[in-house]
Amino acid sequence: MLHKKTINEFDLQDKHILLRADYNVPIAEGKITSNYRITQSIPTIRALQGKGCKIVICAHLGRPKSPNDKHLSLKPIAKELSRLLGEPILFANDCIGQKVKETAEKLHSREILLLENLRFYPEEEANDRKFAEQLVESNLAEVFVQDAFGDVHRVHASIDMVPRIIPAVAGLLLEKEYNTITGIMENPTRPLLAIVGGAKIADKIDIIHKFIEIADVVALGGAMANTFLLAQGVEVGESLVDKDELDIANDVINKAREQAKKRNFIFYIPQDGVVSTKIDSKTTTRIVDWEAHVIADIEAYPGRPKIVTSKVEKDEEILDIGPYSGAFISGIIQLANTVVWNGTMGVSEVKAIHGPIGPFAHGTEAIIDALVGKYGNRPFSLLGGGDTTGYIEQRGLTDMFNHVSTGGGSCLELIAGKDLPGVHVLWDK
Ligand code: 3PG
Repeated sequence: MLHKKTINEFDLQDKHILLRADYNVPIAEGKITSNYRITQSIPTIRALQGKGCKIVICAHLGRPKSPNDKHLSLKPIAKELSRLLGEPILFANDCIGQKVKETAEKLHSREILLLENLRFYPEEEANDRKFAEQLVESNLAEVFVQDAFGDVHRVHASIDMVPRIIPAVAGLLLEKEYNTITGIMENPTRPLLAIVGGAKIADKIDIIHKFIEIADVVALGGAMANTFLLAQGVEVGESLVDKDELDIANDVINKAREQAKKRNFIFYIPQDGVVSTKIDSKTTTRIVDWEAHVIADIEAYPGRPKIVTSKVEKDEEILDIGPYSGAFISGIIQLANTVVWNGTMGVSEVKAIHGPIGPFAHGTEAIIDALVGKYGNRPFSLLGGGDTTGYIEQRGLTDMFNHVSTGGGSCLELIAGKDLPGVHVLWDK
């Protein structure tokens, strides 16, 4: 539970607010391709309007090298936010300075001013105190509201330093994200299944360790699983593997074995995969069942692949989990009461030629179908991680899950039980 004051536990009536939002949204050719983070910021904005506040919103977009990176301007976000709110909002071409101050001075109750990209100033990422003071002064900020859940793992001026200068409380999105995620990690309704995918073990190692301690089942997918397969002696051809991570994979497997001796616990590594020699929409794919050798000599058993399909060839790479793995995980989902899912099962971003599902997105789709109740059970679902939530948003399925986190790195750190600097610094209840 969040032990920090929220906007409902502090007198904000008619105050000048500096609101930190996470508007780091995907933009392609000047167009916002997912507005999820923007929509999720609206309840806090509405609540602040309800308290008669003058609202200045600050945020970052991308990782600009200089203010000349105009493609990283927050202007398109101002337009989208205004459209979603159904009212005009003001936009400032800077985030500090005299001109910004003049605009902030003229703000009326309930009015909104969105500032230009904070990261146009290197002082933002440097957590510079002077810059934070300028942010406060230029925007006449009396109270800081932190609602950028996706950014609270960063120690930047608008996240860590501003709250050291003026009173700082949590917004409603931060409160919801924090309480949902910690609620599951501290007291899950069991059985708890954790599905972990994505590219690199290093990015997920902390949550894998955490889930081995607390979950009933941990199922792996994505390119990360390749390193575990190689560690287990499975030939993976040209698959993306991180040879430096083989020892980590072995340690994880040993830890999982220890848990399985102590209690009812399953650690599942994919048993089959979709492979190809190329990552593109038109490529030829095969399904390889590398576990097939286990029963390959029991000729009478139907439905298993021929021996020839039990090996990933030297020039092939694993690009998705296969149907047996998808079916196994979907089966576990039928028994689960809570599922935490972070990381897609394959290279789901490769576009399809026909229909919405790309050649390496079938494993991810199988998990989606099971989670949303296609086979009966519909466990509580918590989704996190940029690639998973991005895929779900692009498919227009966000509303089908119980909680789709706006956080990437911050969500992983909270799941792993880490202290988030941008939360830590807020005022205690
Ligand atoms: C994110 O998209 O994960 C957050 O907005 C943080 O962005 P950053 O990784 O560039 O700090």
